[in-house]
Amino acid sequence: MTEPLLAYVNDGFVPLEQATVHIEDRGFQFADGVYEVVACFNGTYLDLKPHLQRLQRSCAAIEIELPKPMAELEYLVQEAYVKNPFEDAMVYIQVTRGVAPRAHVVQQKLIPTLIITVRELPKPSEKKVQTGMKGITLSDIRWKHCEIKSIALLASVMGKQEAVRQEVDEAFWLDEQGHVLEGCATNIFAVIDEVLVTHPLDHQVLGGITRDMVIEAAKASDVPVEEREWRMDEEGLSECMMSSTTNAVMPVCVMDGQAIGGGKPGDICLKLRAYMLDQLQALRDA
Ligand SMILES: Cc1ncc(COP(=O)(O)O)c(C=O)c1O
Repeated sequence: MTEPLLAYVNDGFVPLEQATVHIEDRGFQFADGVYEVVACFNGTYLDLKPHLQRLQRSCAAIEIELPKPMAELEYLVQEAYVKNPFEDAMVYIQVTRGVAPRAHVVQQKLIPTLIITVRELPKPSEKKVQTGMKGITLSDIRWKHCEIKSIALLASVMGKQEAVRQEVDEAFWLDEQGHVLEGCATNIFAVIDEVLVTHPLDHQVLGGITRDMVIEAAKASDVPVEEREWRMDEEGLSECMMSSTTNAVMPVCVMDGQAIGGGKPGDICLKLRAYMLDQLQALRDA
């Protein structure tokens, strides 16, 4: 990929450097919008439909009209890859409420802003796969509608910055009772007494598309799955792992400075990761 990158803004593709939105866009002024990140392997998208369906749900939840009909959105996302054909790509889609004089409440119906950008898919290094990720837990300062994939990400930015300050890879949110919810940009699972456990989907957790994939991989690998509240200090906890579009599933071997499962990636995580990487390879070969 050497040619200049092209971004989609509202009604066409333009060189990334010339791709701009209005300063009164509500995304800029209020983070009044939603987004998706989708992976594409050698031209084949992973779970494009569930990502676009989640975008539709996120838009509906904050009463933004989908900027294009579903079929057209899907076409534009495919076009974005064709114009920026990285071998493995990460495609970013953002929809904001649109442009209006700054006031919290907008009376009139706005034309939503749609942008699509494509970058190379970042991936965890082999070394990280071997050593596992490190994490910390933080009390959850985020808002109470985490199921919406909103661009209001200040709390996540703060959590990520704290993770970087503490030289770890991710920060994971705890509720007031100390249940582990999810990461700043990942879902999290534990293996407790050989059962894969993750927080149920509710307003405290984003329904990760990769989270679904991990659950499917577990089911296909005869690993029992339970969606329930869980804590880091539960007896029988032998592994943790985190999932996202850019990580697939990755072992988390240290939390708050304490080793998990001897500080090494666990067998179940590695089995699920291998299963999922096979699926990604199948997309590349498609
Ligand atoms: C808060 C949060 N949870 C989970 C995820 C993982 O979602 P997905 O697997 O769809 O990438 C993300 C991704 O950005 C996220 O921001």
